[in-house]
Amino acid sequence: MSIQTILKMGDSRLNQVAQAVQTFDTPSLHQLIADMTDTMAHANGAGLAAPQIGVDLQVVMFGSGEMNPRYPNEEPIPATTLINPVIKPLGNEQQLGWEGCLSVPGMRAQVPRWMHIQYTGFDVHGRAITRQVSGFHARVVQHECDHLLGVLYPFKVTDFSQFGFVEALFPELAALEGKQ
Ligand code: NI
Repeated sequence: MSIQTILKMGDSRLNQVAQAVQTFDTPSLHQLIADMTDTMAHANGAGLAAPQIGVDLQVVMFGSGEMNPRYPNEEPIPATTLINPVIKPLGNEQQLGWEGCLSVPGMRAQVPRWMHIQYTGFDVHGRAITRQVSGFHARVVQHECDHLLGVLYPFKVTDFSQFGFVEALFPELAALEGKQ
């Protein structure tokens, strides 16, 4: 278990379509998830995808079960590891909301996302996960799963007046960003 280096936007490894996990409950998969857990916690992340630490697999994690200091106004999300995820929008309602990314340190933007989704996938043991979620939870899952398609949130910004540095947009959060 160790904290890994988080790749930054511009690294071509962040722009690839990740490979599906073929075998569950293996030592290497457990090791990957332990490394991602440590890395995400160290950075106070709301989520992390395996490609962000240079691993070409469809593994994401998100949530902590408690309030995240980088997103102090959002509801807690249960700590979840999701493998080979599939997202289906429920309805066609979209919502703009603020996002950041550990691969784009120091910045935030308003990004449109589906308001309600169903997501499916597997846990580390290969057990199926199915949830229907809304709002910030749905947003975080869409953001993390985009990483598995090689997509970072700046690619989805529609209003670039709502894209900037945390220190300018949210001075009260800037001290936390400095930890990254
Ligand atoms: Ni991200």
